[in-house]
Amino acid sequence: MRGLIGKRVLVSGGSSGIGLAAARRFLEEGCRVFVGGLDAAEVRQAVTELRPYGEVSGFAADVSLVEGANALVDAAAEALGCIDVLANNAGIAWREPFLEITPEHFDRMLAVNLRGMFLVAQAVGRHMIGRGGGAIVNMSSTNGIAGEEDYAHYNASKGGVLLLGKTMAVELGRYGIRVNTLCPGYIRTPLNASIAGAMTDGEFEASHVADRIPLGRAGLAEEVAAAYAFLASEDAAFVHGAELVVDGGQLAVM
Ligand SMILES: NC(=O)c1ccc[n+]([C@@H]2O[C@H](COP(=O)([O-])OP(=O)(O)OC[C@H]3O[C@@H](n4cnc5c(N)ncnc54)[C@H](O)[C@@H]3O)[C@@H](O)[C@H]2O)c1
Repeated sequence: MRGLIGKRVLVSGGSSGIGLAAARRFLEEGCRVFVGGLDAAEVRQAVTELRPYGEVSGFAADVSLVEGANALVDAAAEALGCIDVLANNAGIAWREPFLEITPEHFDRMLAVNLRGMFLVAQAVGRHMIGRGGGAIVNMSSTNGIAGEEDYAHYNASKGGVLLLGKTMAVELGRYGIRVNTLCPGYIRTPLNASIAGAMTDGEFEASHVADRIPLGRAGLAEEVAAAYAFLASEDAAFVHGAELVVDGGQLAVM
């Protein structure tokens, strides 16, 4: 990808799954990377795993809290010198029928997936304005575009992320900050493993993938990482306020 060498990248939720793959991809593109995550031991483990690929450090904080989001962005800005790219990736998911979702569960889903994304993006946006621009990629989902059974709270949070990103694009473009949104479909990560519960990989894939994904398989974290790299790069210099769907054709099915 053009224009990524030397860029300083904050990957929130970079200690696992898609974020971990994105952190590695940015390192392979010649970036310096700072990873966030909820669990300190997992962040340490990720940094150790990523070190062979380049200059990386990390910090654990809960992005749903104002202090957590600000501490993460401050730590990244200090470690990297500045932030050119934000992969705003941290998120949670679990299945629950609409009629059984408690207000507490609804609040937690929105607090991490929408409020957390807003808090990190706002802190980074303020930082980037002072630096003359940058690129922000927010993580939504195909579940932010179409409803999936048993995910009303998750779907609502990811739908919110889409319009958060479009509005950020409208307001921040004038400062040289490009804002785009990623919408992956089914990607093999620990998040999906927890959703699948007792199912084996094969059973999960059969129940979720059959008839739903024209390419006939779940996606890989590396395939979403490539989309992060593209949207952050100069190859996407005129891509702004857009959503990029990475779903093996799932949303193309009627
Ligand atoms: N896996 C999929 O199929 C899929 C599809 C579409 C979108 N997504 C989205 O991609 C993102 C990454 O998902 P994943 O599948 O890699 O999940 P994952 O569980 O492997 O990783 C989630 C990351 O978010 C971090 N995180 C969770 N809660 C946090 C909090 N309160 N504060 C700070 N960090 C927190 C975790 O520490 C971890 O680093 C999420 O936003 C998810 O909604 C995933």
